[in-house]
Amino acid sequence: MNIADIRKDYTLHELSESNLLSDPIAQFQLWFQQAIDAQVNEPNAMTLATVNAAGIPSARIVLLKGIEQHSFVFFTNYKSQKGNELAHNKHAALVFFWPELQRQIRIEGTVEKISEEASVAYFKSRPFESQIGAVVSAQSSKIENREVLEKAYEKMKNECQETAIQKPENWGGFSIKPTKIEFWQGRASRLHDRLCFVYENENWTLNRLAP
Ligand SMILES: Cc1cc2nc3c(=O)[nH]c(=O)nc-3n(C[C@H](O)[C@H](O)[C@H](O)COP(=O)(O)O)c2cc1C
Repeated sequence: MNIADIRKDYTLHELSESNLLSDPIAQFQLWFQQAIDAQVNEPNAMTLATVNAAGIPSARIVLLKGIEQHSFVFFTNYKSQKGNELAHNKHAALVFFWPELQRQIRIEGTVEKISEEASVAYFKSRPFESQIGAVVSAQSSKIENREVLEKAYEKMKNECQETAIQKPENWGGFSIKPTKIEFWQGRASRLHDRLCFVYENENWTLNRLAP
């Protein structure tokens, strides 16, 4: 199989200035609903890019868990690689790719930790097993082998009541306040639509970008 031969023409939809909402968050919510309606696989999975103190970027998938006060919220371990990088550099980027709709959304912005109360409330809403998983995993640190992790999980599962698990101090939510949101719609002949909102002087301005 020749990887270079894999290509796809995009012809499903168009994106024009006239069918774009003036508020990019509302436009995001509209496309998100359309992704759900189109049964996109894991529509809330997004690539999160961060940059470390030396300026070296890294990226991974996390799950969008809500939009609060115009900001995109996800949960993680604050001491993980991404958590440490965000502690040094608050600038982050998100990418959604919804192949079933031939759409991409790119977001850039700055992160803040959400309130402790909101993190506790979300932690409590998670399944018991996921709560234990968060407690026993020092995310991104080196571990001896898988057994160490499974033993810690089983021990806690056997010793703890379902209601007794406390949210670890170093686990919680981040919210990304966007300063740029680009909507990308695949089109034929690589003449894709790119409509990009930038937040300047407390207003969103819109530009069309070359594909
Ligand atoms: C579909 C999917 C969803 C994920 N969701 C999350 C998430 O919401 N939070 C999280 O911390 N990691 C999530 N992960 C794991 C991350 O991609 C990553 O492996 C982990 O957070 C460690 O990243 P880091 O070492 O860069 O901090 C998810 C992975 C996948 C594939």
